[in-house]
Amino acid sequence: MGKHKDKGSKRKSDCPKEKAARKLAKERARAHFLDGESGTWAKKLAAESESTTVHGGAEAGATDTAPDQGHGSATSAGSRGPDYSTPTAIDIAADPVLSAIAARRSISKVESLTPNDADLREIIRTISSVADHKGLRPWRFLIIRGDDRIRLGEAFDEAAGVTRKPGEINEKPLRAELILALVSSSSDHPKVPDWEQHAVAAGAGHLLELALWQAGWGVMWRSGNLTNEPSVRRLHRLEANELLMGWFYIGAIPDRYRQRLQTSTRPLPEPEQFLDTL
Ligand SMILES: Cc1cc2nc3c(=O)[nH]c(=O)nc-3n(C[C@H](O)[C@H](O)[C@H](O)COP(=O)(O)O)c2cc1C
Repeated sequence: MGKHKDKGSKRKSDCPKEKAARKLAKERARAHFLDGESGTWAKKLAAESESTTVHGGAEAGATDTAPDQGHGSATSAGSRGPDYSTPTAIDIAADPVLSAIAARRSISKVESLTPNDADLREIIRTISSVADHKGLRPWRFLIIRGDDRIRLGEAFDEAAGVTRKPGEINEKPLRAELILALVSSSSDHPKVPDWEQHAVAAGAGHLLELALWQAGWGVMWRSGNLTNEPSVRRLHRLEANELLMGWFYIGAIPDRYRQRLQTSTRPLPEPEQFLDTL
């Protein structure tokens, strides 16, 4: 019944050349693993980057990313960012990443200037580091600009059963020139239930907010009861297994807001309320 396996044909060759090639392939896969490329695709990536040099267990230029873009640079010599060899003291004020996280705010009214598509691509590339069980990447964003925002308003109206006079439109999606819709795209997996995949997508949403904040852009995550109504799902061409997680309204932070942010002292809550033991 089962397939006959010819074990002999799987035996690895002792030929020194082939042994060296196997060792190199292993090192490349390991380098990708160190660069965060864990999972089955590490081997594939390693095979694709045969021309790159392997040194010291980590590989420079492991992907097609330009060197100054930092992808995978944490393990490369001369990398930017913290020294990961020892944990540092937690100092929110002194650490630019921690202070950005602690200071993050949603900006409900943004101005018309938006990140361009190249910036967006970089931000999406950055946040793809989101923790992801089995690396399923169960999330994507849809870019909504221009008249597509009017179509979004029409879908909201249809979902809410609202009819308008000729020439009137739902202006809610016009609150920003750029909207990103977040889609959680879960698939059947024996070890990763749906809820974990939705958690990954939500994580991507939170990282998106942080990355935009750190880059100086305003953003607010909005959703609501109509989010997964049929007309709205149809507009976003969702498959049955997919869930809309809401929309990110993005734009420049107005000056008056920026000034308030400089002097704002929104206190951080006491951590005890978020901590307990079993
Ligand atoms: C999934 C999700 C959906 C949200 N939907 C809305 C919404 O529809 N309307 C709204 O006013 N705030 C919404 N919020 C909350 C705002 O994005 C924001 O977090 C809140 O106003 C608090 O401001 P802060 O982020 O500066 O603390 C949502 C947040 C999340 C995470």
